[in-house]
Amino acid sequence: MRMVDLIEKKRDGVELSKDEINFIIEGYTKEEIPEYQMSAFAMAVFFQNMSDDERAALTMAMVESGDKIDLTAIEGVKVDKHSTGGVGDTTTLVLAPLVASVGIPVAKMSGRGLGHTGGTIDKLEAVTGFSVEITSEQFVDLVNKNKVAVVGQSGNLTPADKKLYGLRDVTATVNSIPLIASSIMSKKIASGADAIVLDVKTGAGAFMKELRQAEELAKAMVDIGNNLGRNTIAVISDMSQPLGFAIGNALEVKEAINTLKGEGPSDLMELCLNLGSQMVVLGGGAKTLTEAREQLEEAISSGKALETFKTFLSAQGGDVSVVDDVSKLPTAKYKIDVQAKQSGYVSEIIADKVGVAAMILGAGRATKESVIDLAVGIELRKKIGDYVNQGEPLLTLHSNQENVDECLKRVYESYKISDEEVSAPTLIYKEIR
Ligand code: URA
Ligand code: CA
Repeated sequence: MRMVDLIEKKRDGVELSKDEINFIIEGYTKEEIPEYQMSAFAMAVFFQNMSDDERAALTMAMVESGDKIDLTAIEGVKVDKHSTGGVGDTTTLVLAPLVASVGIPVAKMSGRGLGHTGGTIDKLEAVTGFSVEITSEQFVDLVNKNKVAVVGQSGNLTPADKKLYGLRDVTATVNSIPLIASSIMSKKIASGADAIVLDVKTGAGAFMKELRQAEELAKAMVDIGNNLGRNTIAVISDMSQPLGFAIGNALEVKEAINTLKGEGPSDLMELCLNLGSQMVVLGGGAKTLTEAREQLEEAISSGKALETFKTFLSAQGGDVSVVDDVSKLPTAKYKIDVQAKQSGYVSEIIADKVGVAAMILGAGRATKESVIDLAVGIELRKKIGDYVNQGEPLLTLHSNQENVDECLKRVYESYKISDEEVSAPTLIYKEIR
């Protein structure tokens, strides 16, 4: 086989076989196929698309390019949840103990945050002592014992995707549905998931700004998962504004604790119950979503979900006393209210701009090497649809530096206030299976 012939085939819209796709991905991973040929191939895919079979083959070829996590020693169906990324998305912190508390194993591999989106590991490290540096044996034992554990990403997972994603980034080929879908699904499958719940975000703060694009991506990922024998469903949810009120590591841990107590923001609670019910059904813990939801609601009202969170934190070295006394979490030196410059209805809170503002305070990493400040972040006080009086706080900055001018400029740019009444955005648009 010659790479040039395969580029030509794809360029002309001819379907590639599984062997041809394997040849490309293996050759590229081993650096036998040069970057310039792979760039041409990515651009051909961008224009010519891929069939369902090609997408499944590409995903598996990337899974096979590196290490695979073996979770077979964990009892039960391992259901993973993946979100396409958002700002202040506290769902994993809530979902992991919530779903585990009704008996579904949650074996979560997580990463650190980069840019304006946060990472679950950083958030959990706001709890003193908590560590994700556990061995694979400890990880498996903890999930079998407590139904939940979180481990840091290790090993050489999907190196082909890592290389290709980097290449796409500089060749204007990131925004291709077959390439995005196979990239995300290869990582989920390589990390050992039997079943997958996808939270595909849409709106101003999301990767897929339009509902139609989000649907197309969701459908592509669901098809890949199902074609490869992983029961997969997707929920399309709103990211036109940040989720919940808190953005920032310790602030989000506090928000998660409140939510597990049943006292959290209504959008975060609803999304967690929705995604959680899907996970419980895929995990075989309930026959219907209604039944699953009842179990989860009971776990919150009885305190069982909160108890599971404590067990989980303490099993990984965390100081559980923060759950009963959230004032023990890291707190920032300054709390600065940002006031509305005019009265009216909040009509827009551009999530990624607020995310960047939180990053500037130190809640996120501008580069991989940046050191984050776990205490800082942003607490929204008004969300889309709320009425605000001039001078009333729109949000509160939690900062360790007194000068917050740069951050202020961005938050003012992200909020729009309208004279007309505005309704709150739809939280959950669709379910795709
Ligand atoms: N996220 C991924 O992991 N891969 C993509 O291609 C796009 C977003
Ligand atoms: Ca939040």
